[in-house]
Amino acid sequence: MRSLAAALWLLLLLPAPSVVAVKEQDFKKCHESSFCRRGRALADRATEHVKSGEKWKSPYSLDASTIVLEDGGSRFTGRVRSSLYPEIKFELDVRVHEDGVVRVRMDEKEGLRKRYDEAASWALLKEPVLSPSSKWSVGKKEVKVVYGAKKDQVEVTVEFEPLVVRMKRNGKDQVVLNGQGLLHMEHFKKKVEKVEAEVPVVEGEETQKVVQLPPNSWFEGVTEDGWWEETWKTWTDTKPKGPESLSLDINFPNHGHVYGIPQHATHLDLPTTKGEGASFNDPYRLYNGDIFEYPASSSSLSLYGSIPIIHAHSADSTVAVFVAVASETWVDVAHPTQKSTETHWISESGILDIFLLPGPTPDQVFGQYARLTGAVQLPPHWSLAYHQCRWNYVSSDDIRGVQKRFDEEDIPVDVFWLDIEYSEEHKYMIWEKKYFPDPIDMLNDVAALARKMVIIVDPHIKRTVDYPVYKEGQELDLFVKNKQGNEFEGWCWSGSSAWIDFFNPNSWEWYKQLYKFNGREDGKWSWTESTSTVHIWNDMNEPAIFNGPEITMEKDSIHYGGWEHRDVHNINGMLFANTTSQAVKERTTPYNRPFVLTRSYYAGAQRFAAMWTGDNMGTWEHMAVGIPMVLSNSISGMSFTGADVGGFFGNPEPEMLTRWYFVGAFSPFFRAHAHIDTKRREPYLLAEPYKSIVREIIRLRYSLLPVWYTAFRESSVTGLPVTRPQYVVLPKNEAGFSIDDQYYVGASGLLVKPITEAGITETTVHIGEDQVYYDFYTGHAYRGSVKGKSVTVPAPLERGPLLIRGGSILPSRDRPRRSSALMKRDPFTLKVALSQSGNASGELYLDDGESYDHREGNFIWREFVAESTKKTVTISSKDLASRNPDSAVDGVELAIYNGGNAFANALDGVRVERIVVLGLKNKPTKVTLGKAHLEFTFKDGMAAAGNKEGVASKLTVKNPGAFITSDWSIVLEL
Ligand code: NOJ
Repeated sequence: MRSLAAALWLLLLLPAPSVVAVKEQDFKKCHESSFCRRGRALADRATEHVKSGEKWKSPYSLDASTIVLEDGGSRFTGRVRSSLYPEIKFELDVRVHEDGVVRVRMDEKEGLRKRYDEAASWALLKEPVLSPSSKWSVGKKEVKVVYGAKKDQVEVTVEFEPLVVRMKRNGKDQVVLNGQGLLHMEHFKKKVEKVEAEVPVVEGEETQKVVQLPPNSWFEGVTEDGWWEETWKTWTDTKPKGPESLSLDINFPNHGHVYGIPQHATHLDLPTTKGEGASFNDPYRLYNGDIFEYPASSSSLSLYGSIPIIHAHSADSTVAVFVAVASETWVDVAHPTQKSTETHWISESGILDIFLLPGPTPDQVFGQYARLTGAVQLPPHWSLAYHQCRWNYVSSDDIRGVQKRFDEEDIPVDVFWLDIEYSEEHKYMIWEKKYFPDPIDMLNDVAALARKMVIIVDPHIKRTVDYPVYKEGQELDLFVKNKQGNEFEGWCWSGSSAWIDFFNPNSWEWYKQLYKFNGREDGKWSWTESTSTVHIWNDMNEPAIFNGPEITMEKDSIHYGGWEHRDVHNINGMLFANTTSQAVKERTTPYNRPFVLTRSYYAGAQRFAAMWTGDNMGTWEHMAVGIPMVLSNSISGMSFTGADVGGFFGNPEPEMLTRWYFVGAFSPFFRAHAHIDTKRREPYLLAEPYKSIVREIIRLRYSLLPVWYTAFRESSVTGLPVTRPQYVVLPKNEAGFSIDDQYYVGASGLLVKPITEAGITETTVHIGEDQVYYDFYTGHAYRGSVKGKSVTVPAPLERGPLLIRGGSILPSRDRPRRSSALMKRDPFTLKVALSQSGNASGELYLDDGESYDHREGNFIWREFVAESTKKTVTISSKDLASRNPDSAVDGVELAIYNGGNAFANALDGVRVERIVVLGLKNKPTKVTLGKAHLEFTFKDGMAAAGNKEGVASKLTVKNPGAFITSDWSIVLEL
């Protein structure tokens, strides 16, 4: 059932069988984007100057006589000049926030035009509060501020000439802006007709007619390269504003590892793009794009979403820089030495608006970033369970049939998805009644088993007046405009289409109304053939436009306020998802937590949506790269992330699919999805033993849902990622800084290393600390070391490598159910993995999983602790929330928390049905809870303390008589 548009898409983009998958030539390299070419050439000239012994000095300086201290001294402004254009006014504005983050803004003032300065306002949660105590002082050569505890002081200097911004900690440079002198803000100018000459723009390439600049242009280059117009393939970008790009070097002289700037298919520890032996030839590109069959490794292919944050890490400190820019941006990365990093950022337009996050630990950096852009929203509980998708389930009976097969095979599943073919001619929200004659009945049949549906709504709006969304959008004048000021028209699944301009505030309320399934107050059209169990998938929102340059929108198209698409491209997709998320939330009274999956995103999108890594291939390589991609997105704020299980394209063989289920079961977002041309591959179709193995993997995800949900609670409050790379958990263990094929789940202590190769039976896991780790399945105790140690662990298909860090207590629910909602009153198992010193702790957070009642204090939040003395081990459960009255869930203060809240009451009587303790040194003589003597079994084995490896001792206490909502203590006498 392939529509015409789909067929067209495939025709346009399917590669001939013998050529490489992605059409690399459909996407620009740096040298094909004139501003990137100019920016890189500037860097090359600087390097040449320095090599030839000449000093390269930035032409930009801060005029000390213009400095004004503001906001009680935590902020200053001053005029920046370029010696090349002394008459042009630039204003610098530098602020210290109350948490020590420093914001550096520079804009052209009273120029010919205004630069786009709103990127930060879309990303930020709120206007940051400035520091009440940090004050800038103006010296002879610099402005300076010092803050923080004596032992750990941060000093930020803004040097006058040349203009350099330096953040130091304890005297050591952390971040330096313009240290290499690559700052360049191209000011707006008038086009002056000049003589053109034929010159090669890039050495060795064909000549082009260009205007030559005066030969003394040592800084800007000798040509007006692509200033006023740029043609690439059949598209001409008219550039009515002329050149306005921005170049800046951001260096980390004492940090040898950088992470972030998703999304690219590459390692977490960003490989170099410059310098000797660079891994990539091109800089990392941030330009949201739909890259068909993207390769498993690339810097220039910029996938779907962009977050311009880079984290720099060393054993001493972690810092980060968030660059609030929304236009196409390229970032070069080099390591002049093993212990230092240089990055060079080149953006097409916008002001300079940079946030320096001082850390100094990874956790503090996450907190600083979350205070800026918000933390991940606490998702609905069901959305952490298993999702079944394909392009397409072709009818309502198909959905019913798939649901039946899952149930017959006892495979848990929470969500069925509908891709674009549910809709009539790809008019989203309008059912194709030929195949979906009874949508409400279908939704109710799914809901009857406490399941949900997620349905796709893409941003391209079919241009036909019989589509109410188009008709009303047009009447209200809400669509993006082309450069002539008329409705922008492009091609996507729906054929000729228009795009709602979500930069236009008038679109927000209107768009939200479309989701009112009970009808709109004004009686106009809304999606009434929907229910409260429908949640939404936003795809193609880069935006993908089949007949546009690089499959997206022309840069000279016009958005609200007259801004060009060029200025806002990377934010565009996020606004669609953010508005959808609010629409889904607000369609019911009281509100319910929405689930929206978005393909495109920008900084701040974590407050509204989950994301996935798009159209991966069903290959081992893609399965492997999906892991660092998930980690990179996670540390950049997008904690709710995952890759399509099985790979979108192709037909993975059973072994690959089985391994992929394990990867998915240990990703924050766990969804199987497949292209329309692939064979059906729902888990029940697998032959044995694969089917049973996959069933167990999905059940394992369900049994660990308490761990995932608890990790999301923490993430939603602190900004810490849900999946945590090695450097985050063990920031001093250098051997772990580049490891990106194993990671931890929240603070639970679960360490996972998915297998992403065929035929593997064992693998090595890096244990980056002097601690005991236990095999999750067998209880085998492994030992790490301070420097880190590789241990070999078994990795049979049925048991993906999974270790528990000594010192952790894992809550789980081990009864297999059809969907997660049916587990609500299931009992818990607590797995206590003793540390080498005989202690352990863990957390459990639970609420109703759907509403916002948790914001009124309706939740339970428990801490489990195991403490050893010579003769006893005491395991207890304590109420964590009442001891943390200020802790906020989802950013909301919970002053009214009370342990006996309605949700806790609803869990009254829910038992801890089993406690398992790993690593006791000997069999207890008795186990008691109060006066009650508890029965237990004990298997002798390795103690947590010591350095021997082997199966750990295991104590099991069944039915201890403890309840999940109450305080208790169990004493093991040894
Ligand atoms: C592209 C998306 O990435 C993919 O997941 C989806 O199935 C197709 N569009 C069709 O909607």
